Amino acid sequence: MKICCIGAGYVGGPTMAMIAHKCDDIQVTVVDINEKRIAAWNSDELPIFEPGLDDVVKHARGKNLFFTTEVDKGIREADIIFISVNTPTKTYGVGAGKAADLKYIELCARRIAEVAEDDKIVVEKSTLPVRTAESIRRILEGAGKSIKFQVLSNPEFLAEGTAVEDLEAPDRVLIGGEDSEAGDKAVQALVDVYAHWVPRERILTTNVWSSELSKLTANAFLAQRISSINAISELCEATGADVDQVAHAIGTDSRVGPKFLKSSVGFGGSCFQKDILNLVYLCEHFGLPEVAAYWEQVVHMNDHQKERFVKRIVRTLFNTVSGKKIAVLGFAFKKDTNDTRESPAIYVCRDLLREHAQVAIYDPKVNEESVLRDLEEVGTFEPDNGKRKHVSVYQDPYEAVKDAHAVVILTEWDEFRELDYQRIFDTMLKPAFIFDGRNILDLKELRKIGFEASGIGKP
Ligand code: NAD
Ligand code: UDX
Repeated sequence: MKICCIGAGYVGGPTMAMIAHKCDDIQVTVVDINEKRIAAWNSDELPIFEPGLDDVVKHARGKNLFFTTEVDKGIREADIIFISVNTPTKTYGVGAGKAADLKYIELCARRIAEVAEDDKIVVEKSTLPVRTAESIRRILEGAGKSIKFQVLSNPEFLAEGTAVEDLEAPDRVLIGGEDSEAGDKAVQALVDVYAHWVPRERILTTNVWSSELSKLTANAFLAQRISSINAISELCEATGADVDQVAHAIGTDSRVGPKFLKSSVGFGGSCFQKDILNLVYLCEHFGLPEVAAYWEQVVHMNDHQKERFVKRIVRTLFNTVSGKKIAVLGFAFKKDTNDTRESPAIYVCRDLLREHAQVAIYDPKVNEESVLRDLEEVGTFEPDNGKRKHVSVYQDPYEAVKDAHAVVILTEWDEFRELDYQRIFDTMLKPAFIFDGRNILDLKELRKIGFEASGIGKP
């Protein structure tokens, strides 16, 4: 059995590495048009940081796991082809700002249609709007070849930072297939791959549309929990309740459950916002405005959470941060990843810069190039506005906080809990402010040191 995966990103790389690691009898080839990324997958410095990933890749690479830019060869030789390319929010034309941009998906389908010489199972691994499988099937069959294609949906549920453990022991694997004999056979072939290590009862099979829609729904539900607790955090601040205590109290109800109730400066990452907006667009497309508005509010609440965090910093610092050094600890969208896509830090830093602050950033895994690129992309550095010189990226947290008016925690990296806050306090300007956007610090202890400390949803 030979598998090819198109797209060597945060999903394609780890997912295929795990399949190769668990299935000695399967040859897995990950292809990508990005030469730099492929070179990194073949080096000692993998293109993405994920705890435990190096070992999984090293175990299989060169044996039954290969990374290459030879896309056509990979497609031609494979029995099963996963499509795991990016599906960002469209930035132009119809559906701009909401719909998923499917151009990379379509390019893959056309490439497969052109170079395939025998029957293939094509698997949607990317997150896609419901009914995309139909378009893929039509493109594949449009080539008019006598070979047969089966299109399956197999969305990925891994979360970054825990990708390896999520892949090793998934809550479930979801496979959607066509309701026909050929469809069942294709589903079984993919079930057999996962059954190498996933208990059979955790491999769910559905029709294609349910599988596609389940992925968007899962992310919408998860993000909705965060926006719900973040909405309550604002009420906590107004009333003296403590959002962590409220979250604990409601989470002990087994119907609610304790996970995903951590109030924060807002959710980030490449998936939640994109997938909810995609869902909203689909609802509008199908003439369901009330359903669309319901889900869109999850994103509005998230934007509000980021904005009000910055407003609070400005208000607390005597209504101006102009010319003040603000030390930002954490730029990744969550801990244990170097990924910054849609990180709340981008928007918080942009808005602080718009208030003329001097922003000093430290993140253990994000480099200066990524920080500046991200800030540029959200319009922070308009031509000649000079904002670029107000950003500095540090390698050492203690350097970043020196002479700062305020410290702002934006990612919940474990190392931020362990910092020497007395040392930090001593080097800061007074009054020394600290804003914990992740509620990871003990505010009482910080106040004992002398900080003016505040968290999210804290009295
Ligand atoms: P990514 O941007 O990290 O990787 C996508 C890769 O596809 C890139 O390396 C790009 O060069 C490559 N690519 C694009 N077009 C190509 C083509 N025509 N031929 C060959 N390669 C091509 O994206 P990602 O984070 O891995 O996400 C991929 C998909 O998985 C998205 O649909 C996303 O929504 C979904 N997803 C992501 C996560 C996550 O945590 N990142 C989790 C679950 C699902
Ligand atoms: C998410 C889904 O969890 C995963 O199943 C899907 O495959 C991809 O999208 P990811 O975005 O990688 O995964 O990370 P996740 O752990 O979901 O965190 C997303 C964002 O929400 C982060 O910014 C995180 O800090 C934030 N978050 C998460 C909270 O603010 N509070 C929480 O309680 C949980």
